[in-house]
Amino acid sequence: MPSVLETSALEFERFYSFINSTKEFVVNTPELQSWTTYVYVSVAVMVLWKLYCLLFVPLNRVRKLSDVGYLTDPGFSKRETANNVRKRRKIGDIPPVYPNGWFGLCESFQIEKKDVKYIEVLGLNLAVFRGENGEAFAVDAYCPHMGANMAAGGRVEGSELVCPFHAWKFRGDDGVCSHIPYCEKVPSVAKVKSWPVMEVNGWIYLWFHAEGIDPSWFPYTIEGIADGSWKYGGRTEHYVNSHIEEIPQNGADVVHLEHVHSPLLGAGVDLRYMWSKFWGFGHHVWNAQWSAESSPNEHIGVMKLGHSIKCFGDNLSIIDMEVIAKQIGPGIVYMEFSSALCTGVYIQSLTPVEPMLQKMVHNIYVNWTVPMCIAKFYLLAEAIQVERDIMIWNNKKYESKPLLVKSAEDGLVARHRRWYQQFYSENSPKFTFQKNDLEW
Ligand code: FES
Ligand SMILES: [Fe+2]
Repeated sequence: MPSVLETSALEFERFYSFINSTKEFVVNTPELQSWTTYVYVSVAVMVLWKLYCLLFVPLNRVRKLSDVGYLTDPGFSKRETANNVRKRRKIGDIPPVYPNGWFGLCESFQIEKKDVKYIEVLGLNLAVFRGENGEAFAVDAYCPHMGANMAAGGRVEGSELVCPFHAWKFRGDDGVCSHIPYCEKVPSVAKVKSWPVMEVNGWIYLWFHAEGIDPSWFPYTIEGIADGSWKYGGRTEHYVNSHIEEIPQNGADVVHLEHVHSPLLGAGVDLRYMWSKFWGFGHHVWNAQWSAESSPNEHIGVMKLGHSIKCFGDNLSIIDMEVIAKQIGPGIVYMEFSSALCTGVYIQSLTPVEPMLQKMVHNIYVNWTVPMCIAKFYLLAEAIQVERDIMIWNNKKYESKPLLVKSAEDGLVARHRRWYQQFYSENSPKFTFQKNDLEW
């Protein structure tokens, strides 16, 4: 048996001869001495990487508030412009700012077992965590002992959250304090508020009700996602500076489709320039209807949408798409679509981060046979259309008494306003306007 020293010497000798033979190979191969070879190889690696991302990696498009929908003031940055608009714009006589319903807190993949996440939405400061058994919980972030933020350094044990300051331990399901390390008897008032949450369709949702009423309805499970027959194609994230009701109201505003969403995607998202002649060879064609479902699903509004594209006067039938978009309460939309290229669903989550600031996330799931690049294209196409809407929302005033004319189209907007009233209640939070608080 060779000693350790002899084995190491042998290994070193092998390594040395490998280096020598590699060196010889490089010296005797003229192509490897030319720097252009390395440029070609680098470019090829980059192209392959891009191709791999395009074909196999889901889309992740994140836009900050100031990235989309503002007319930049001369001499100001995009961020300064967004802040200026937020301070100066007339908001209008807006309804309560946080309606009642289920709202997306975060996507399931964003919080792993034993993770704690600090989330501010709906005027709440929450510690959202996932227990060791995989169940998700949301409790008020501030510890009742001395006010530490339990999402800032707190840790998960079982299904409980341990405060980072003095290690009081709170149960996720009811918020009760189960243990104080230096006190044998835990007082019965030692408790944080625990919020109803449910996890479905790749989201952790929270039930918010201004009167403290328990959930009266639930978002339904989408079969294709639950049974794995649809695959995830990515996400987009936007921030919208408007009252939350403006956004679902677009579902009933069928007239805007022609005026905001007609130009081809290549024409971009700036409403001022999207009607350029260059892109005038084609346009999107929409037809839509909106109605509210009846009891016990009166919390659901349904938009039926038909979409096609005309190029040089001809219909591109491969693009034809039928969409059933279900608005499930104020904060969730499931848009199931089918076309020759692709079948699947867009999931929209809309959650107020502040009274006049909405976080809007879209996910796409498509059937397994659809290549990832097509799923991503569908999601990107949707994002471009949404960014056109954002330019309207970010700059408009909420019109509490809209001048609706006698027509089926404006009649739908009026119906939507009446339908949406069900999500407000006596104690729904109202907006108190403080200009200084609007810095983004
Ligand atoms: S502040 Fe949380 S245990 Fe003391
Ligand atoms: Fe729209």
